[in-house]
Amino acid sequence: MGKLQNKVAVITGATSGMALATAKLFVEEGAYVFITGRRQEQLDKAVKEIGKNVTGVRGDSGSLADLDQLFATVQKEKGHIDILFASAGIGERGKPIGTVTEKHFDDTFNVNVRGTLFTVQGALPLFRDGGSIILNTSIANERAFAGAAVYGASKAAVRSFARTWTQELKDRKIRVNAMSPGPIGDTGSLENTPDQMKAHMVSQIPLGRLGLSKEIASTVLFLASDDSSFVTGVEIAVDGGMNQV
Ligand SMILES: NC(=O)c1ccc[n+]([C@@H]2O[C@H](COP(=O)([O-])OP(=O)(O)OC[C@H]3O[C@@H](n4cnc5c(N)ncnc54)[C@H](OP(=O)(O)O)[C@@H]3O)[C@@H](O)[C@H]2O)c1
Repeated sequence: MGKLQNKVAVITGATSGMALATAKLFVEEGAYVFITGRRQEQLDKAVKEIGKNVTGVRGDSGSLADLDQLFATVQKEKGHIDILFASAGIGERGKPIGTVTEKHFDDTFNVNVRGTLFTVQGALPLFRDGGSIILNTSIANERAFAGAAVYGASKAAVRSFARTWTQELKDRKIRVNAMSPGPIGDTGSLENTPDQMKAHMVSQIPLGRLGLSKEIASTVLFLASDDSSFVTGVEIAVDGGMNQV
């Protein structure tokens, strides 16, 4: 029997990269998953790749109307949620102080902070007591990456949410944890990163390589399943030690 047998999971921003890898693993472990993304074509492709026990709902996590549509679909098809991995997030580099535009700030906070908050808030009426919420943060929430101040601050807000919501949801035994990736090589986020910059990242990672999406998926599975039944409010870094030494 799988670790998530008969569980219903919602994973936002899951048409590529680490969240898609997580959706695949969740289904292998017995869950039914609802996945989202903004591009219909990419969503259809991801649903096909996952193959079974999946519904794709096109939507932007920065849009409250799209989030309403997502949860209306979940309610209609399954009626409840056991697990939420709020992963949709954006991060533009190369914006040092002095060059930050209102649009850059608003776009980043709209998806990463406002979107995460209203995703969790929208999910709660459907959430089963005892469920698990995992928020995708980043090691940038506590480590300085020049040119990524707005992104780092948005992820620090997400890390903070995990602490407060742990308190606020404790009576429902809903666990809330943050998962902080370091640089994960096989994701869209790093697709256009120059090799030289990747090599510089690797030079700072004790394990000497970039991470893999499947390594994020197995960590999120741990946080989603009963294997982590006494773990809440924490941040687990999956960063090859980059932010730990
Ligand atoms: N990769 C890394 O090294 C790394 C490190 C630290 C943290 N993270 C975090 O990991 C998450 C991104 O995953 P990834 O790195 O695996 O990147 P990815 O492969 O580019 O995947 C991003 C996914 O999110 C979707 N998405 C983007 N904006 C969205 C929105 N507003 N609403 C709904 N879906 C949206 C994308 O599809 P559409 O474009 O079709 O919407 C895609 O499915 C982010 O939260 C990011 O901050 C990544």
